[in-house]
Amino acid sequence: SLTQGDFKVADLSLADYGRKEIQLAEHEMPGLMSIRKEFSDSKPLTGARVMGSLHMTVQTAVLIETLTALGADVRWASCNIFSTQDHAAAAIAVGPDGTPDNPQGVPVFAWKGETLEEYWWCTEQALTWPGQPGPNMILDDGGDATMLVHKGVEFEKAGKAPDPSTAESDEFRVVLQLLNRSLAESPKKWTEAAAEIRGVTEETTTGVHRLYEMHRDGSLLFPAINVNDSVTKSKFDNKYGCRHSLVDGINRATDVLIGGKVALVCGYGDVGKGCAESLRGQGARVVVTEVDPICALQAAMDGYQVSTLEDMVETADIFVTTTGNKDIIKAADMARMKHQAIVGNIGHFDNEIDMAGLAAIPGVVRDEVKPQVHTWTFPDGKKIIVLSEGRLLNLGNATGHPSFVMSNSFANQTIAQIELFTKPEEYPIDVYRLPKHLDEKVARLHLDALGVKLTTLTKEQADYIGVPVEGPYKSDHYRY
Ligand code: NAI
Repeated sequence: SLTQGDFKVADLSLADYGRKEIQLAEHEMPGLMSIRKEFSDSKPLTGARVMGSLHMTVQTAVLIETLTALGADVRWASCNIFSTQDHAAAAIAVGPDGTPDNPQGVPVFAWKGETLEEYWWCTEQALTWPGQPGPNMILDDGGDATMLVHKGVEFEKAGKAPDPSTAESDEFRVVLQLLNRSLAESPKKWTEAAAEIRGVTEETTTGVHRLYEMHRDGSLLFPAINVNDSVTKSKFDNKYGCRHSLVDGINRATDVLIGGKVALVCGYGDVGKGCAESLRGQGARVVVTEVDPICALQAAMDGYQVSTLEDMVETADIFVTTTGNKDIIKAADMARMKHQAIVGNIGHFDNEIDMAGLAAIPGVVRDEVKPQVHTWTFPDGKKIIVLSEGRLLNLGNATGHPSFVMSNSFANQTIAQIELFTKPEEYPIDVYRLPKHLDEKVARLHLDALGVKLTTLTKEQADYIGVPVEGPYKSDHYRY
């Protein structure tokens, strides 16, 4: 049984519904299920205490149960206040053999619509192991769990955390409050936890940026695998995943007809490419903004007009930020938009759209249409529609990426966990990518399900292009 109080979800009675959707998802996740089968006897994660901070969806439930099937002891939190699917969280807490009255699954701390205080409490609970200093592995998405451990260690070394009232954002104020409390209660908690951690596997572009930064400034405390930059992750999840879930989010939130509308996509990286295609598929006239001349040229060659926010702000009907950068749409921009313009972000953090600046406009009124859909009315009567309060709309307004694409991402995650946990001596502190042959393995695991017939190189052909018959087929610098 799960210890009462050692998990927190919205409603355990949703577990049966969650379990049914998990079973449907398993069939759509052939990569993950085949890894589960490959390692179910050897159980390479035996002894691993994996803390996960990643959107608590149905797909993530299949990941969690793969990690436990491989022997891991797991605790979980979501990495976004709006992204949890409550039925998936309930099913994970109850487990395949438990009942809502007798939950026997994994300690999970996640529900849809957490406050910032609750969000960081959940993250801390998932990092706190009964009878142990903490986890020995982190599986992160966006780097919040990794950040909390690092800040904890930094402030324990200094003997105190800064005054929360000096924090640069509401979110960081909450983190500082939490760390001040933990310093008072247990002054070595994070140092002792960090000493046990063999490594972190990071899911997304934004989290990976944070890891490289920490490594550059010498503060990274344990090795990391950059899962995002496996080809079978960023060139699939970021692109094809968003191609599916962006319009899903806009439709569920607003049900506006997208065809014929002018949609502005800010950023034409992997996510931006998927989003632009998704909107074009619905018949929108898509305009792209970029700072990088290569991506701008790509957008133009793909047939999109490339312009600036400044030029488009008064004419576009739908705005989507995909940059992973901050201050993309500012309050003054929103003030200039058309009546009922739709504004949403699909990048990892909520600083792409200046929500605080919007709220600070004198006379502006926020009204909830339904959870995660708000109108903001300006003093002149004009309204704009903001999705998921500026947080990632595909997970806030819809259910995120579908199973098949997440099977690629999570197969990479599982392999990365096995690598770092079982071969710590091969991974001194640094940020690594998985080797090409494992990337190709992940792709291979998904071919049969789509009826793909692969051509086999002859030995002569392989020699001619200088690759082994069985791969890897490309050099590390090949860009796909
Ligand atoms: P990327 O680095 O491939 O693309 C971002 C693009 O934005 C770059 O081409 C960059 O030049 C451009 N950019 C930066 N500042 C800009 C500005 N001021 N104006 C216009 N363009 C600008 O990154 P990727 O992989 O596309 O990820 C983007 C964000 O989406 C990240 O925060 C990532 O973590 C997140 N993400 C979200 C997912 C979701 O399901 N919601 C899935 C995968 C990633």
